[in-house]
Amino acid sequence: MILRVAVLLFYIFQCIHGQPDNLGFISIDCGIAANFTYQDPVTNIIYVSDYGFIAPGENHNISSDYMKPSLAKGYFSLRFFPHGVRNCYTMRSLVMGNRYLVRASFYYGNYDGLNKPPVFDLYLGTNYWHEVNFGDSRSVNWMDIIVVSPADYLQVCLVNKGSGTPFISGLDLRPLENTLYPAVNATQSLALINSNRFHLGPTGNSLIRYPSDPHDRIWSTYDAIPNSTVISTTAVIQNNLSGIYDVPSSVMQNAATVINSSRIDFSWDPSDPSADVSSKYFFVFYFADLQNVPSNAVRQFDIIINNKTQNIELCRPMFLFVNYLSSIVHGMSNYNVSLVSAKSATLPPILNAMEIYLVKPITEVATDLGDAKAMMAIQETFGVIKNWMGDPCTPKAFIWRGLKCSYPPGDPSNITALNLSSFQLVGAISTNFGDLKALQYLDLSRNNLSGPIPNFLGQISSLILLDLSSNNLSGPIPYSLLQKSRNGSLSLRVGDNANICANSTACISGQKKVNGTLLAEIIIPILATIALFIILFLLLRQVLKRKAKKRATHHEDESVLLENREFSYRELKHITDNFSQETGKGGFGPVFLGYLENGNSVAVKVRSESSSQGGREFLAEAQHLTRIHHKNLVSLVGYCQDRNHLALVYEYMPEGDLQDKLRATSSSRPLTWEQRLQIALDAAQGLEYLHFACKPALIYRDVKSRNILLSTDLVAKIADFGLTKVFGDSKTHITTEPVGTIGYLDPEYFRSFHISEKSDVYSFAVVLLELITGRPPVVPISDSVRIHVGEWVQQSLDHDTMESIVDAKMGGDYDINSVRKAANLALHCKREVSRERPTMVEVVAQLKECLVLENCRVRRRRSLGSNGDGSTCLGEGSALGAEEERGGEIQVFADGPVTR
Ligand SMILES: *[C@@H]1O[C@H](CO)[C@@H](O)[C@H](O)[C@H]1NC(C)=O
Ligand SMILES: *[C@@H]1O[C@H](CO)[C@@H](O)[C@H](O)[C@H]1NC(C)=O
Ligand SMILES: *[C@@H]1O[C@H](CO)[C@@H](O)[C@H](O)[C@H]1NC(C)=O
Ligand SMILES: *[C@@H]1O[C@H](CO)[C@@H](O)[C@H](O)[C@H]1NC(C)=O
Ligand SMILES: *[C@@H]1O[C@H](CO)[C@@H](O)[C@H](O)[C@H]1NC(C)=O
Ligand SMILES: *[C@@H]1O[C@H](CO)[C@@H](O)[C@H](O)[C@H]1NC(C)=O
Ligand SMILES: *[C@@H]1O[C@H](CO)[C@@H](O)[C@H](O)[C@H]1NC(C)=O
Ligand SMILES: *[C@@H]1O[C@H](CO)[C@@H](O)[C@H](O)[C@H]1NC(C)=O
Repeated sequence: MILRVAVLLFYIFQCIHGQPDNLGFISIDCGIAANFTYQDPVTNIIYVSDYGFIAPGENHNISSDYMKPSLAKGYFSLRFFPHGVRNCYTMRSLVMGNRYLVRASFYYGNYDGLNKPPVFDLYLGTNYWHEVNFGDSRSVNWMDIIVVSPADYLQVCLVNKGSGTPFISGLDLRPLENTLYPAVNATQSLALINSNRFHLGPTGNSLIRYPSDPHDRIWSTYDAIPNSTVISTTAVIQNNLSGIYDVPSSVMQNAATVINSSRIDFSWDPSDPSADVSSKYFFVFYFADLQNVPSNAVRQFDIIINNKTQNIELCRPMFLFVNYLSSIVHGMSNYNVSLVSAKSATLPPILNAMEIYLVKPITEVATDLGDAKAMMAIQETFGVIKNWMGDPCTPKAFIWRGLKCSYPPGDPSNITALNLSSFQLVGAISTNFGDLKALQYLDLSRNNLSGPIPNFLGQISSLILLDLSSNNLSGPIPYSLLQKSRNGSLSLRVGDNANICANSTACISGQKKVNGTLLAEIIIPILATIALFIILFLLLRQVLKRKAKKRATHHEDESVLLENREFSYRELKHITDNFSQETGKGGFGPVFLGYLENGNSVAVKVRSESSSQGGREFLAEAQHLTRIHHKNLVSLVGYCQDRNHLALVYEYMPEGDLQDKLRATSSSRPLTWEQRLQIALDAAQGLEYLHFACKPALIYRDVKSRNILLSTDLVAKIADFGLTKVFGDSKTHITTEPVGTIGYLDPEYFRSFHISEKSDVYSFAVVLLELITGRPPVVPISDSVRIHVGEWVQQSLDHDTMESIVDAKMGGDYDINSVRKAANLALHCKREVSRERPTMVEVVAQLKECLVLENCRVRRRRSLGSNGDGSTCLGEGSALGAEEERGGEIQVFADGPVTR
């Protein structure tokens, strides 16, 4: 008894969520109380309630005058479905591709007192199974279907077609070995409509099922063979064909035969209103001799259906051994079956059992399995009822509310849109949304979703609209979503979510909220007092520190990093998606691409542990940057100083650095001369600003093409301020160890360690030469000979072979005077003696003239033939009006500071 209870509990536990028991059986008695379980006294099968298999529907018992003791207990109750057109049971934890026998049973029993059995349709998943139609209130009806499961779940759906409320009394699922019923495959199933599985035993011994039949097929008596007699045995009938048709011995122990006749004749009527000429029936006849006949006796016969012989060889039943014949027959309303003895036979034919199935093609393609399972999980997570049952997309008429699907012919449907706005969803955004691989529109607005916005939403590559507005979501927006939103591939709506932070400040402050009165009366005063002390303490410390530091390094700027945003290391990890996209290497270490909450892209420069440049330069750069603002200087967005982590966050320059741009061989279109001049002018203006607009002035010290970055529209900006030195008010020079990059390094500075703004001018000259020639600072002339690009250009100017050294990538498309003027300017800037070099102010002016020359050429060429329109343009050698005209010669401006 205790054992029995334990077994029962085990089954309850096993079956509660729509899963098979340890035999692999699912046995549902529909209509019994939720979680109720019992063991059937005849079969010993444990039946469970339909809790966990279906949500909608109502339980009912059949009318009491229909409750006969002979009626199986399973028929006493039923579940009916007054609401919704389609209602589905889902049986889970199956094995996809395996064979299953599914049985739905019905007994109306006038449960609703209407005495009018309904007519409705039954579907297996998306495929039409059969109509459920009763002769009368007392007829017990059950239908089997043998299928290859297309998924690891199977669904049985009842569809109301306007002829009464669908109901169901029981639902069984039995696993079958994959060799059984070979006619069944992924595109073909076998449906047993009117209990057409027969043994030929005496009527008294009516039903054979589990445990006699381990597959729990139900075999009923066939008593429609006229003038036949039954022969029986108690011996075991061997079955060497059990892998194909595992007919149990007990079914085979009775057989119909005839006396004084050589044929068995019977006619079989499908009794199926839906049967027509296109209906195909699958017959299996089983026979085994039960009489040990003398060796000279012969029992052999043909099986003929509607005048057509089905067997190839004669059927020869063996003594106590199963034999069978299977055949598909179609296109008839009535079937005349005859077993006719062969001429040589001395014994009449014999028939032990038969099965007759309706062949059902599996044609409807369901929803993509991944999508369907994701939707079922979402349905379960949020408890969405609506009409969310069965397959999400198919049949099209029963598509789940809020879904849109694609229906590629012959292929599974994909869910393309999900509009769950105002679906009363509560809780975190389910990870299952991320499994919808073809999703384009996801609208989760106006629900009560909480928790963070998960990262996986950004991984749905097809997504073009994501609406999370009017929820209770919190935390930052994931990098991947910001990135997509930023590049325009995703329309992202997150409004009206009190706790989503627009920026880090909001993120931190929005986290904790304390009860109102407590906050006002106790905590605030206490906090205020504490804060006051802290502020006083900090101020005092700051003053002391500043004094101490002033004494130590009197010329170091002490600007506090207040104007810029301070990032925590965690925030950096977030905005760079865990430093996943490295865009380059700076002097300090790697540079990563990131996205801020507003979608702006940033370059995050992280100081690596092995960086040759230490924390000092790093902080120097940060400090300089905070007070520097110019359109031609890369602007600092913020910084991070989080224990061991130092990082600077800049605006991101998508076009990379000038060096790469110039050296690029194929990928992008080469820079035109006009673009090159504009880049030179931009960079020059950046340096001009550092030298003249900053107080105190700044020497950049590392001008090189690598440090000039380009924005999307090729605006040049100077980056990497780590080496910038504050230039004292005296405007002369300061002594420092030479730092910089070979090829760009001012030789005077290198020799004397005396640095001035003119060192930047020298380096700038090299960049200008690079722009003209497209060559690196040191040009290899032959394998062993290398000369500086300056000397190379000088030589060509001396020999008037300028055009031979201009970057061939420009394809000769430039004003040669403009180029020559720029080359002269560069050589002038590159003079050995720093005093002789122009200032950046003059460089800017000269470059503008070069640009005018080039622009004139472009305009002239454009208006060529339109009557000498060149008059609007300045002639060669003249630019920007008379007082500024300098021709090809370079004038050195008077020394001394230029204020602006
Ligand atoms: C059935 O069992 C489940 C799980 O144990 C439980 O959550 C549910 O409330 C039960 N239902 C009823 C009606 O008792
Ligand atoms: C059906 O009958 C059983 C007992 O016979 C009872 O426990 C159960 O509540 C009835 N169900 C309904 C839905 O009335
Ligand atoms: C299933 O069997 C039918 C009939 O034998 C055959 O036409 C069909 O191609 C089979 N389908 C698959 C998927 O094997
Ligand atoms: C059955 O047998 C009786 C007499 O033995 C005969 O009259 C009758 O025609 C037979 N019926 C069939 C369907 O063969
Ligand atoms: C059935 O199988 C057994 C063992 O495989 C074999 O010995 C026997 O001959 C077979 N019988 C028939 C009738 O095929
Ligand atoms: C079978 O053949 C007989 C005679 O040849 C004929 O009368 C009968 O109609 C045929 N039956 C069917 C179903 O074709
Ligand atoms: C549907 O989704 C599957 C994978 O989930 C994919 O292979 C298939 O291409 C998608 N079909 C369409 C029409 O997008
Ligand atoms: C940060 O967000 C808060 C609240 O959303 C806003 O008031 C503040 O101006 C924002 N700060 C910046 C720098 O965008």
